[in-house]
Amino acid sequence: MKNSKQKSVRLPGHIVPERYRLMLKPDLEGFTFYGEETIYITIVKPTKEIMMHCKDIQIESVVCSNLKFENLPAGRQVENLKLTYNEKTETVTFFSSQIIPKGKWELHIVFTGILNDKMRGFYRSQYMHGNISKHMATTQFEATDARRAFPCFDEPALKAVFDVTLMIPQNTTAISNTIESSITEHQSGYRVVTFQPTPKMSTYLLAFIVGEFEWLEGKTKEGTLVRVFTTPGKKEQGRFALNCAIKTLEFYNAYFDIPYPLPVLDLIAIPDFTSGAMENWGAVTYRESALLVDPENSSTSNKQWVALVIAHELAHQWFGNLVTMHWWTDLWLNEGFASYIEYLAVNELFPTWEIWTQFAFADLGAALHLDSLKNTHPIEVQVHHPDEIGEIFDAVSYSKGASVIRMLAEFLGEKKFRDGLRYYLKKHAYGNTHTIDLWKAFEKISNKPVTKMMANWTGKPGYPLLTVVESKSLLKMSQSRFYSSQPSRKESKDTTIWSIPISVMSSASSRPVSSLMSQKSGVISKPKGQWLKLNMGQTGFYRVDYPAQMLQALQTPIKMKKLPPTDRLGIIGDAFALAESGQLPTTQVLELVSSYNGETDYTVWVEIVSGISKIKSLIENEKFISALKQFSLELLEPIVSQVGWEAQKGEHYSTPLLRSLVLFQAGTNGHNQTIEHAQKLFGQLQKGKAPIPADLRGVVYNLVAENGGEKEFNFFIKKYKTEILHEEKNRIGRALGQFKKPALLKKALNFSMSKDVRFQDMPGIATSVWSNSQGREIAWTFMKKNIKVIMERYALGGHMLSRILAPAGQFNTETKAKEISDFFKKHPAPGAARTVNQVLEKIYSNAAWLKRDSKAIGNWLNEQS
Ligand code: BES
Ligand code: ZN
Repeated sequence: MKNSKQKSVRLPGHIVPERYRLMLKPDLEGFTFYGEETIYITIVKPTKEIMMHCKDIQIESVVCSNLKFENLPAGRQVENLKLTYNEKTETVTFFSSQIIPKGKWELHIVFTGILNDKMRGFYRSQYMHGNISKHMATTQFEATDARRAFPCFDEPALKAVFDVTLMIPQNTTAISNTIESSITEHQSGYRVVTFQPTPKMSTYLLAFIVGEFEWLEGKTKEGTLVRVFTTPGKKEQGRFALNCAIKTLEFYNAYFDIPYPLPVLDLIAIPDFTSGAMENWGAVTYRESALLVDPENSSTSNKQWVALVIAHELAHQWFGNLVTMHWWTDLWLNEGFASYIEYLAVNELFPTWEIWTQFAFADLGAALHLDSLKNTHPIEVQVHHPDEIGEIFDAVSYSKGASVIRMLAEFLGEKKFRDGLRYYLKKHAYGNTHTIDLWKAFEKISNKPVTKMMANWTGKPGYPLLTVVESKSLLKMSQSRFYSSQPSRKESKDTTIWSIPISVMSSASSRPVSSLMSQKSGVISKPKGQWLKLNMGQTGFYRVDYPAQMLQALQTPIKMKKLPPTDRLGIIGDAFALAESGQLPTTQVLELVSSYNGETDYTVWVEIVSGISKIKSLIENEKFISALKQFSLELLEPIVSQVGWEAQKGEHYSTPLLRSLVLFQAGTNGHNQTIEHAQKLFGQLQKGKAPIPADLRGVVYNLVAENGGEKEFNFFIKKYKTEILHEEKNRIGRALGQFKKPALLKKALNFSMSKDVRFQDMPGIATSVWSNSQGREIAWTFMKKNIKVIMERYALGGHMLSRILAPAGQFNTETKAKEISDFFKKHPAPGAARTVNQVLEKIYSNAAWLKRDSKAIGNWLNEQS
């Protein structure tokens, strides 16, 4: 029953749109818009009903007329169409009293709508022009919100050509997917901007933006015009993005061997934006912090983020825009792929960043965590309703998608992989695909059984744990699905078998031993050497459980850095995960962590810190928490003294990232000297004396907040209100969540929902309070109390609501799990149902972990001191 109801949200399919002639006229003061469209459709079988998507739009009139086809007299019109809206399916249906014969028809519709403040559909975004508050109109259509801007056939496979015209006030600029073909002045005082027809494309990729902008521009060597648009006064901050975009576009042109097809590529910074960025064909929109770089005030990590986001969105111009998934079930073809190739492009542009080593925690790691829950989903997942579609923009579609692509790329080799992509893109250009089409392309080029190998990686939830047993001459391996939660593991009946690319590196040889294991278990002869490390380079999407002796043997190459950073990271990451799941005593992981005492790599430190932080939050109410802090401080001591506070000339690219990471860790674990230094820098800033280097601001603000009171809090609030740079606002916002006093944390949360914080920025502040051990309960109470407003603002689509709720998974008692479960039974969270289940699963898992290991952790820590 439920299933068929869900399926009925799909359009019936007997009407095919071919072209939309669309005119929109936004009213930037009244927050409404007026629209007219002619849709050229083919009616495939005679019908009395025309059904299309339409949401929160008022249709003023509709006429259906036929062209000179199908032997009918020209100019025939079907007027007086009756119409009904259906809120559930987000559609409108036009009913004709007579049967409309099959053939080519034009549908002429006049409509009006509201420029909403929900950051979806056609919406308004506020900005300052000098001292005057202004609004722009802009769009966010993915996944299912084009229907909020104009009645349309809003499914990705119903591609069409769009002829867009915007009627705009004189002082504004209009941007859409292509370049203007004409600009005329209308007698009403408006300017009429008509754009060249778009390529054949999906509705979710259309964009219109109207506002006061300034811009920078340049050209690729192939002649594509590239522009970066900002609100008045900010265009110089677009310089870095412009350079990145030009070089990235040139790289993709060559890599895919298909030229970018439009004459122009615009990148637009939008002050209110729901996600990080959106790949609209030729008119990519960004939140300001994902596009703008201010050389004086932007951190290394923000700059890196900008480069990655640009590379990601530009990858979509091919993967997603040129070739599009047939339906949202295959969303990962877009997002997983773009999340993989963004690294390839950034590595090409900035080789010294060694960006691939960050993949291991940012994507592989994120995916391994989420996908270790029972409440995960297969990469290819059945979805019907917009709520379900919004939910799958998660680490499974993005990061697991990217990780399994990387695994395949390694397996096929660079060239075959690239040629497979080229073949796929050329074969399906301007069309739609399923996952199988990608596998077929790789098979054709490589002659390897890709479909068979990949089937369970994308078709089944979860991933394998490879358990290793050694004998004198053999390595025996067996696989079973990995769960981070012990209760979930114990309940599981999953018997999935994955095709696992095995690679074993050893002290004795620089070349790994490789094989593909497609059975439940396998045996290989044991390579020689004092130590063996499986999953070389962490390119496989699985975890490894070593026997105690093998793990012990790995301590030496970790200490001596005989293993590359990614492998050092992998060993400790897998160990933390096994402790969480109850397959390795937590004390043994802490034991292993000690061998990272001389660690110098940023990415490895990220993994260590995140593992220890999890244990810290687990035992936050135990007496021996201070012993864990002491343990952390001893571990950090060498690296903290090595990196210091001062940036050195010519230091490694990632040192500033490492510095801010370990200094914060030292401070938060109670290192007085570090805290005092942070306070000193802050004091100078307060007096207006010395600005703090951008890379240190996060550490300084957070440590000052952790150790500060009312005075510091008020300083931050004041600074937040007057700050113009979005990135800096975010930094301050996070600091607001790091105070210790409950009263201040409550204030921070109230502030996050006040008029001084944009809707888009509330989750950043809330997440910070959640992550603070003093703030968790306060955050939860706040969510409960404000659930109505939160739902109004953030529910129904996007991933904002999930972001706000997910941190609740850090609780660690069954009572809390029950409370949360009861609460959401009463207040269902549309678009975040799976997130709530994940939260509950994590809490039960934490509770079991605490029960299992807490005492031993306490004893072990006490023995250390
Ligand atoms: N297509 C997405 C934007 C999007 C996200 C639309 C969610 C609808 C719902 C875009 O390509 C994207 O993935 N943006 C990322 C940034 C990227 C670098 C991972 C984002 O917004 O977080
Ligand atoms: Zn994307």
